[in-house]
Amino acid sequence: MPVESPIASGRDCAPPLTPKLAPWMRRFLERPDIARELLASHGSPTHIVVTSEFRRNVKDLLSPFEARNVSGGLFFARKANKLPWFVTAAKEEGIGVDTASLQEVQETINLGVPPEQIVVTAIGKTRELVATAIGAGCLLVIDNADELDLVRAVSQSVGKGARIGLRFSGYQVKSRKIFSRFGFPIEDAGSILTSLAGDAETTSQRVELLHAHIDRYDTDERGCAAHQLVRIADLARSLGHPITAIDLGGGVLMRYLESAEEWEAFGEALIASVRGERPYWTFLNDGLGYYKAGDQILGQPDLYPAWNRLSKERFISAVLDYTEDGSPLHRELSDRGLKLFFEPGRALLDNVGMTLSNVAFRKRDTLGNMLIGTLMNRMNLRPFRAEFCSDPIVLSDGPRNTMSEGAFIVGCLCSESDLIFRRKVSLKHFPEPGDIMCFANSAGYLAHHLEVGTHGNPLPSNVLMDPETWEVRDVIEGRG
Ligand SMILES: Cc1ncc(COP(=O)(O)O)c(C=O)c1O
Repeated sequence: MPVESPIASGRDCAPPLTPKLAPWMRRFLERPDIARELLASHGSPTHIVVTSEFRRNVKDLLSPFEARNVSGGLFFARKANKLPWFVTAAKEEGIGVDTASLQEVQETINLGVPPEQIVVTAIGKTRELVATAIGAGCLLVIDNADELDLVRAVSQSVGKGARIGLRFSGYQVKSRKIFSRFGFPIEDAGSILTSLAGDAETTSQRVELLHAHIDRYDTDERGCAAHQLVRIADLARSLGHPITAIDLGGGVLMRYLESAEEWEAFGEALIASVRGERPYWTFLNDGLGYYKAGDQILGQPDLYPAWNRLSKERFISAVLDYTEDGSPLHRELSDRGLKLFFEPGRALLDNVGMTLSNVAFRKRDTLGNMLIGTLMNRMNLRPFRAEFCSDPIVLSDGPRNTMSEGAFIVGCLCSESDLIFRRKVSLKHFPEPGDIMCFANSAGYLAHHLEVGTHGNPLPSNVLMDPETWEVRDVIEGRG
């Protein structure tokens, strides 16, 4: 009896997920000599980025505002990538920056972003962070009553009023309340605003903004929340608060994939595996969010919607056009002279970066699965979700054998679970040690958010490139 594989029975592999490639990425992939040189100079893996696409994204994401004559715009969610180059690009493009820690605030100020263009959405704000923001004049988005007390206390002790935004949660969408752990209950808006109006004369906190943090990538939820915040803005203004803007946070969708059909086929194949209708192609029969209970398939795919219909500016347009009682959000905003902001991280980093690594080895595990080892670890390309749904591209410097089976791409940590992907991917050709694996579109979170150096390895280098000449503009070695 052959051993039944707990990883994947047979030679099956996941349906292809062809990455969407920006024109500069396509050109780069035609120059394996440059990729080889970069890896030789900076080690494996290396993250490469260009800022031109970031600038293009700024323009694209602002276009729906211009088309509808709505003021406001973008705060770049700096947490999505650690490199200072995008903060500088944000400053040069005239957009603001959303910061999530004292370090991010300090660095953003030091990079010359005007403090009035900086919002602080950090969770668990420290006294030092609050004092720095108040001192500089950045806007603090307040999440809870303890934070508000801290801001009042710091403001009193430094003798300067704070610019604040209030974050609310619990928006009602039809009969459903949107769950969130972030923000004050929306039902308390009246009492909070009244109490703040009461102490305005003593400590003069300026409530300038109303904020929502919405987790799902749902334009209706955002539109609905915004309409509710417009009504709170009316109330706040009637109490004397100088509200100028509504901020809907991040979560603007982007696409990682070329093809809707591939994405659908992938989802269907995953469900078929969980149902037992075809062999699994995931590590340890991982349902990537789905599971079987009796005859039923339960759960949700724990995956970023790598292909979606509403990416980037379409997403923003859908929110601006969200209509309640016959009135679209953009009209509600412009009638009142209210600005609207989003805080995109990922969407501003769309098409911006790639991660390169060297193939180190090929081997089979005890179950016969083909493993391709690459000089990196799974934290160098780590999604928030169960899987990064975009296939790698291999660059070789000579002809390679055609592959007739799928392979698990594994990293170099001493851990059985160090897989770059939890799915068996299909590669056209069998790579050899020294060949290069390219992972497209890694600049938003994947490269930096959870990256760790282990076994004494430094964090990967980051290289800023000119996408026309391939000149290296700047390098930041292993930034923690
Ligand atoms: C307050 C806030 N703003 C912005 C973002 C950025 O979200 P995204 O990169 O998905 O646009 C996040 C994500 O965690 C967030 O918590």
